[in-house]
Amino acid sequence: MGKVTFLPSGKSIKARPGQSMVSAAAAARVVIPQRCGGHASCLMCRVVLESGELSPPSALEKRKMPERDLAEGVRLGCQAKATGKDCTVRIPENRLKSVVQAALERQRKENEE
Ligand code: FES
Repeated sequence: MGKVTFLPSGKSIKARPGQSMVSAAAAARVVIPQRCGGHASCLMCRVVLESGELSPPSALEKRKMPERDLAEGVRLGCQAKATGKDCTVRIPENRLKSVVQAALERQRKENEE
């Protein structure tokens, strides 16, 4: 079993080969957003492979994801599986959360001026 580390939290877990990143994340009490129950249709479960190894993209994943994203290590967390080797996977920040944080930061700077 390889260790899977999830960023940005840094939480990690030993994942069995073939275990999906969504499943490993849930076991590590890390949330990967999803809506379709792992059927590769909502595309909300995207994760980025930062280091190490995951299973090669499935045919379904290749059909759903832009080739460029896959080449850059962007994977569907419900399709990408642990291989038994260590890996580090980043869960992209929630877009709404980043927008709200940027707005709050802007407001804070304006208040300082
Ligand atoms: S959970 Fe919906 S695409 Fe992965």
